[in-house]
Amino acid sequence: MAIGVLILRLVVCSLALPMYLLNFLGVWNWFCKKWFPYFLKSFTVTYNEQMGSKKRELFSNLQEFAGTSGKLSLLEVGCGTGANFKFYPPGCRVTCVDPNPNFEKFLINSVAESRHLQFEHFVVAAGESMPQVADGSVDVVVCTLVLCSVKNQEQILREVCRVLRPGGAFYFMEHVAAERSTWIHFWQQVLNPVWLLLFDGCNLTRESWKALERAGFSKLKLHRIQAPLSWKLVRPHIYGYAIK
Ligand SMILES: C[S@@+](CC[C@H](N)C(=O)[O-])C[C@H]1O[C@@H](n2cnc3c(N)ncnc32)[C@H](O)[C@@H]1O
Ligand SMILES: *[C@@H]1O[C@H](CO)[C@@H](O)[C@H](O)[C@H]1NC(C)=O
Repeated sequence: MAIGVLILRLVVCSLALPMYLLNFLGVWNWFCKKWFPYFLKSFTVTYNEQMGSKKRELFSNLQEFAGTSGKLSLLEVGCGTGANFKFYPPGCRVTCVDPNPNFEKFLINSVAESRHLQFEHFVVAAGESMPQVADGSVDVVVCTLVLCSVKNQEQILREVCRVLRPGGAFYFMEHVAAERSTWIHFWQQVLNPVWLLLFDGCNLTRESWKALERAGFSKLKLHRIQAPLSWKLVRPHIYGYAIK
């Protein structure tokens, strides 16, 4: 299998040679940061159609983490276009973090469509380092489809724990590596190098549940499913929440 992966990877990568050249020249990254929000805007519509019931289930107990004021303070890390806003409870105070500033105008559109929320601000930062967010200042942190693309999962989860109040919760929904010895795993391995370039650093073979298990939360509720998505490579999913 390993040799098959190597040979097919070589074929796929040579087809993608022009993209690698642009990447080498530094043009690709610039283009990708611009292009990705447009792609994500339409991807999100499909994703929310196919995963809406799972997201509703996941976020159904968010309000239980609201502080004494009754208002939930929520930080969304890697917010993208704001795909989760409609699943948040009324009155929820939302702050968003994303390293790509090109998402701002898409986010503003989603804010305008989400009158039930109290939007605070958009911070341009990577989740690995969010000094703009104070220690123990939020009830809930949310990441969906983010842990696949971050540089350092351990460091993000450390930052998440830092900004969460004690007893606060981290909600996640992520695509992950398929079980080894499945065909999906095989194609994930083959296509990963090109996929990474095409989809802004999204890594198909991340075993993100491991980082979550190691992050030292007091409780971890994690489900593993084959998501009902049309793109088979991203069907293996984990979702759930962890309590600080
Ligand atoms: C596939 S998109 C998902 C966006 C959104 N959460 C959703 O569910 O539609 C991945 C997002 O993670 C962001 N991202 C990439 N690296 C990141 C990092 N180190 N910290 C935080 N966000 C990051 C990207 O800019 C992008 O918005
Ligand atoms: C993708 O994730 C796998 C599993 O965590 C890792 O071994 C690999 O180095 C990652 N690839 C990149 C380019 O980050």
